[in-house]
Amino acid sequence: MTHEPTPCREGDHGKFEITDRDGWARLGKLHTSTHVLKTPCLLPVINPNIRTVEPRELWEQYGFEALITNSYVIWKHEKLKEQAIAGGVHKLLDYPGVIMTDSGTFQNYVYGDVEVGVEEIVNFQREIDVDIATMLDVFGTPDMTKEEVEQAVQETISRAKASLEAAGETMLNGPIQGGIHSDLRKDSAVGMGEHGFAVHPIGGIVPLMERQRYRDLVEIILACREHIPWNRPIHMFGCGHPHLFPICVALGADLFDSAAYALFARDDRMLMPWGTVKLGDLNEFPISTSALSGHTPASVKSLSDDARCELLARHNLEVTASELARCRQAVRDGTIWKLVEERSHTNASLREATEYLYNNMPEALVAATNPLRNGGVRTSQDLPTSPPSIAALGRLLNSFETDSERAVLISGVSGPWRDRIGGLVHSIANRWPDAAVFIETPLGLLPYTMEDVSPWAHLMGPASIWNGMASDDRDFDLQALMGDVEQVIEISFEHKKESNLAIIESVFGDGLNEEITRAELDREMIEDKVCYFLDVSREESEQLLAGCSFVYSKTKRVRNVHASDGQHILSPRLRDGGLSLTLEGARRLHGSDMPTVVVNDDSIPFTRKGRNVMHGFISEVKGELNPGLPCLLESEEGVFLGHGVAQCTASEARCFTKGIAVKVRDGIGE
Ligand code: GUN
Repeated sequence: MTHEPTPCREGDHGKFEITDRDGWARLGKLHTSTHVLKTPCLLPVINPNIRTVEPRELWEQYGFEALITNSYVIWKHEKLKEQAIAGGVHKLLDYPGVIMTDSGTFQNYVYGDVEVGVEEIVNFQREIDVDIATMLDVFGTPDMTKEEVEQAVQETISRAKASLEAAGETMLNGPIQGGIHSDLRKDSAVGMGEHGFAVHPIGGIVPLMERQRYRDLVEIILACREHIPWNRPIHMFGCGHPHLFPICVALGADLFDSAAYALFARDDRMLMPWGTVKLGDLNEFPISTSALSGHTPASVKSLSDDARCELLARHNLEVTASELARCRQAVRDGTIWKLVEERSHTNASLREATEYLYNNMPEALVAATNPLRNGGVRTSQDLPTSPPSIAALGRLLNSFETDSERAVLISGVSGPWRDRIGGLVHSIANRWPDAAVFIETPLGLLPYTMEDVSPWAHLMGPASIWNGMASDDRDFDLQALMGDVEQVIEISFEHKKESNLAIIESVFGDGLNEEITRAELDREMIEDKVCYFLDVSREESEQLLAGCSFVYSKTKRVRNVHASDGQHILSPRLRDGGLSLTLEGARRLHGSDMPTVVVNDDSIPFTRKGRNVMHGFISEVKGELNPGLPCLLESEEGVFLGHGVAQCTASEARCFTKGIAVKVRDGIGE
């Protein structure tokens, strides 16, 4: 396939935009003057002296849109240098895509003999027309003392300004160092983030990956991620093993580079999505790639050294590329955490790193995650903690409020709960109108009012997952949701033989306290959802819904909610249990606590017409935006303009300059 690169549009040079996301995991576009690069992507490392696979083939045959090579190696070799200066690096390598170059820092780490100047090497990269250059950073190793690493961090930061000046218009990498010290990684991210770099590689991680110190790798990413400006891509320097891609992508990595494909091939090692396999150990190939087509392990072993190395390098490249494609698709599908979990079982160090991550899940990652999913969540008992979408709903539920001091816990029953325990819950409400009813799920207690919220409503797993929670976990959840509770009644369906009515009578006696209507129960549900998903206070939710009425579907589910004056204000979504506001509903919530994006004057006519709010046109964000959840739109004068679904967090809205910030549902019109 021959295709031409697509240069960025004027004014977009150096910008990065997000096109799809799940929490911190993101698909994006990096706008360079040569090509608009889709991320996450992998840059194969090309040694300009030894080309195991020709760069042209990387572009045409394998579809790699970017590669990385070393400007120091070119600079040192007179002939390469002359050619590069005369015709540019794209011509030198015969590669039409994005070319990133490194600066010699890594050579200095490996050989210790780099004697190029800080400005000199950046000037050279600009001169040879690279798309993304790298400053000469100071490599912090795990063996250095903390003082030495700190010195490396500070020295790198102190070189930033001169390097950026030398780069001019050329996009520049500003590496984050700091070794294994979280505080230094943070200092590095803050210090480098203050300068105008285009990309931030996380550097100094190769020695950790070589020793499979993956937990350190996760700790490093966690230490710096939130301090790197959100609108800049993150590159994992030297990270090319496919089994690391899912966890890195889930934590927000955008670019990877791989010398591994060629290095591993040189000693007959084959990359697989689940790890590394030695050619010598194989009787059959457990995976098929076009490189291996027509071959058996025996036939590959019998090739000459060069031919075998090339064939294995091609195989390694294919596996690497397809694993990254798998990650991208998983981000689109909302299943990246499932892939993280799956890959974690392929390697003990990776499992340890993943468990560490589960136990130290950053609050900001959970807050950036849409709690609502279209599909279900597969769960098994070996999942030690919940993926972030579950945690995200948990976070929303932290605002659970009830005056009740009585709780009813229903266990041992899977969904759909409306059908299976709806009647029971109604009977409970008639006897104990103020009781808070919870369903015990394998992922924690769920208020009954959230019974149709996906993925909780669609948990898949063996029947045993419904055996009930450990009582400590249950007490913990109950305490978190309700504080001190005077009375807790447990209703278990585990060995249920009696009818719901019999259960109710045995627990509560047969007297009715109150006749609660079905509509009242439905109103409570909607009221809770308005609080959680629209992030408004209980009073505001009650006010919005006071005297409301419902239109029901044939299956007796609330289809539309009308305010007391008959206006349609919102609709519960059957697909995921969320809420869709109407323009009128949004108008009534304007001025409440609901997250609000303030657009600048240029954007007002577009927003009014219902066009999406683009980054770069936002003056302010009030409250926290949760990607995937609704928000309101207003002008700087505070005039209501419409509403939509946030595509970003508030921190992202404050720094991105390209891409969609809010998918607008309705504008108020002209
Ligand atoms: N390649 C692998 N690691 C590094 C690093 O920390 N800095 C630079 N410049 N290149 C690298």
